[in-house]
Amino acid sequence: MADKEKKGLAKGLTNYGDPAFSLYLRRSFAKSMGYSSEMLSRPVVGIADSKSGFNNCHRHFPELIEAVKRGVLAAGALPIEFPTVSLGEVFLSPTSMMFRNLMAIDVEEMIRAQPMNAVVLVGGCDKTVPAQLMGALSADLPAVQLIAGPMMPTSFQGERLGACTDCRRFWAMHRAGKVSAAEIETIEGNLATTAGTCAVMGTASTMASIAEAIGMALPNTAAIPAVHADRLRAAEASGRRAAELALSPLRPSQIVNEKSVENALRVLLAIGGSTNAIVHLTAIAGRAGIKIDLQKLNSLSDSTPVLVDLKPTGQHYMSDLYAAGGVTAVLRELKPLLHLDCMTISGKTLREILDAHPPWVDRAVVREFKSPISSQGGLVALFGSLAPNGAILKRSAADANLFEKEGRAVVFSSLDDLAARIDDPALDVKADDFLVLQNAGPKSGYAMPEAGYLPIPSKLAKAGVKDMVRISDARMSGTAYGTIVLHVSPEAAIGGPLALVRNGDRIKLSVKDRKLELMVPEEELRKRKAAWKPPVTPPARGYAKLYMDHVLQAEHGCDFDFLRKA
Ligand code: FES
Repeated sequence: MADKEKKGLAKGLTNYGDPAFSLYLRRSFAKSMGYSSEMLSRPVVGIADSKSGFNNCHRHFPELIEAVKRGVLAAGALPIEFPTVSLGEVFLSPTSMMFRNLMAIDVEEMIRAQPMNAVVLVGGCDKTVPAQLMGALSADLPAVQLIAGPMMPTSFQGERLGACTDCRRFWAMHRAGKVSAAEIETIEGNLATTAGTCAVMGTASTMASIAEAIGMALPNTAAIPAVHADRLRAAEASGRRAAELALSPLRPSQIVNEKSVENALRVLLAIGGSTNAIVHLTAIAGRAGIKIDLQKLNSLSDSTPVLVDLKPTGQHYMSDLYAAGGVTAVLRELKPLLHLDCMTISGKTLREILDAHPPWVDRAVVREFKSPISSQGGLVALFGSLAPNGAILKRSAADANLFEKEGRAVVFSSLDDLAARIDDPALDVKADDFLVLQNAGPKSGYAMPEAGYLPIPSKLAKAGVKDMVRISDARMSGTAYGTIVLHVSPEAAIGGPLALVRNGDRIKLSVKDRKLELMVPEEELRKRKAAWKPPVTPPARGYAKLYMDHVLQAEHGCDFDFLRKA
């Protein structure tokens, strides 16, 4: 029997040159934890736990994991949880993005190295679900993705507040002098008040929806609020399903394929999802040997309507989406565009799931296919002399008045330069200029932070300017909004055209033509390139060196070159 087919603790024995001794020793040590022989003879379901004191979004995981265990035990397997790296979005420096691949390596290797026949991946905060799916695809053991679930919004002075679109809205008002220091402190305590992930269609909610759309999470579990009893029932069902998969394997490589990735892209567009999800889905697909072409994204975007009315582009919160029918209701509206024969981890095809889903839907939150919020998807890829390998704009979160525009570049050479000068009253900047941030991409030393939402210079903010064209090789939080061009590739730190932009250059943006052009003669660009020097000294050791040596550009999902499937 091949090792991967062995049951429970007999799988993947530590090698002492005597397999019978290895098993006897393992069982003996396992018995020190009080397990009976009967329990130790069962198939094992691992539970990848990404709880951490540095991750507020996962604070309910102990309760969630108890429910997973209940499901596993009820189905006749043995649940064993194990810790992995956790990535709490706002607790990591320079940015959680730098560590997504580290978590993916951890998840993959611990799934492979420890004796389990299936695994439940418990994650939620932005980078955790992509990291878990990347790792699980590479390990290719049967896996069920269990989502943390979104936070609940709070009622505050007659208004609903939720992390983190409202965080940014109030901070912009504070910067413009409309909210006092005392008021912002009170608001600070009312933005994120329950367990769970950010309450809007940010990156975490987008990745949860994608996990369901691609078939790796159980039906209609993506949007269940973290504190809802249904979340615990979803955990129990995920445990039960993983126990079934331990005996009758259905592997991630049978779920994630060209068709299911396209379904996930359709859902990303229809929900007005986060720009970050393009990077993450590209990385997940790359682990299955599937390439996401940004030109293909544009053609899907042109034919996928936006159906969900959630912040940051709309009105509602993720908990409203669940009450309105959930992600399955969105999938059902998209039925004419989806590959319905895709198998899901539940053992049912997408068609079977959608046919069985209750028909009720709240049309205030999930629109009908034939009367969408917008007839086109929320994201577009731009190409041109400033971004030969592409850039991303979330048009659904942008000001359409700025879509066909030429402007003067006001350049910041780094995040430190931005912080030092953006609010300088002497900064030469006008409302119709284009703000350009260089050296914030994957290899910049900042590891592509969510810094693409450049603040409006305070003198313009105070004069009432709410949006400007902003261009960078950084990312943007899924909870942010504005006419913000991101993920410019190749990035400035490797000498891409973005590195060659100077104050006063003209840049042309055309969303209609999908163009981003630097209007500088080629001869002048050649001279600038000849004088260009890399902005960072490569790290000498440790994970930072591994990251810098192997991280790929945004259009390859910022995965490491040696981790993608050949
Ligand atoms: Fe965890 Fe927003 S901080 S999802």
